[in-house]
Amino acid sequence: MAMTLDGKVMRPDGKWYGLSSRKDKVRMDEYRSSAEILIVGKNSIINDDPVTHLRYVSSPNPRVVLLVRKGSIPLDRKIFKFYEKKPILFCTQENYDIIKSTHSEVSEIIRLSDSLPVEEILESIFRMGYRKILLEGGPTLNRIFLEKDCVTDLYLTLVPFLIGKEDLLSICRGESALDSFDQNKWDLTSVEKVENEVFLKYKRYRSSGRPAP
Ligand SMILES: NC(=O)c1ccc[n+]([C@@H]2O[C@H](COP(=O)([O-])OP(=O)(O)OC[C@H]3O[C@@H](n4cnc5c(N)ncnc54)[C@H](OP(=O)(O)O)[C@@H]3O)[C@@H](O)[C@H]2O)c1
Repeated sequence: MAMTLDGKVMRPDGKWYGLSSRKDKVRMDEYRSSAEILIVGKNSIINDDPVTHLRYVSSPNPRVVLLVRKGSIPLDRKIFKFYEKKPILFCTQENYDIIKSTHSEVSEIIRLSDSLPVEEILESIFRMGYRKILLEGGPTLNRIFLEKDCVTDLYLTLVPFLIGKEDLLSICRGESALDSFDQNKWDLTSVEKVENEVFLKYKRYRSSGRPAP
């Protein structure tokens, strides 16, 4: 995730564009190149239509995973146009028929339980043989994986802007605080200044002080 100096990950119009540099995009591709799976949030795709295939690093593209709990997702997004392997689209009983009728050509559709539980998503991904997963947000998806303690590493880019408007999302979005947020530390493992941005890496430490498995 990239965030402003005041911790925002979106502009006042609800989108993220133009605030991170080309160097950040290159860095992003480097992180992606070591992943087998990229999970990208539905609202992020609707709002930002992100490019998910690698442009700055020569390496196999990770496979995109989409989570659509309700309704559908627009077919005209880049993720359905540029891929080596069709994106995997997890949906529910409720929207399976509609998704199947519209997205079969451009995705591999897998139906899970109605709330799309993180455990089922991960189990399904693991069953397909994938192990290295990069979650690219947005904040709602970050939250559901963080609250299940399924995140081992955090990559944050601090961009040199202040927006100053309340109610813009930060990297994790939820109605309540994460359980034991003040017990579960993140260990700062790398700080790198590149021109006017800072690239931060954190690893999850458990309250015992031992690294997460
Ligand atoms: N600065 C950055 O690095 C960065 C990166 C990414 C995104 N962003 C910003 O973040 C914004 C979007 O964030 P967001 O938090 O609104 O959305 P999001 O995390 O991109 O997507 C959330 C949506 O995913 C669907 N979903 C599928 N399975 C789910 C589950 N098990 N639990 C919860 N939701 C599930 C839900 O929609 P349904 O229930 O309708 O299916 C939910 O509303 C974007 O507009 C973008 O600008 C910034």
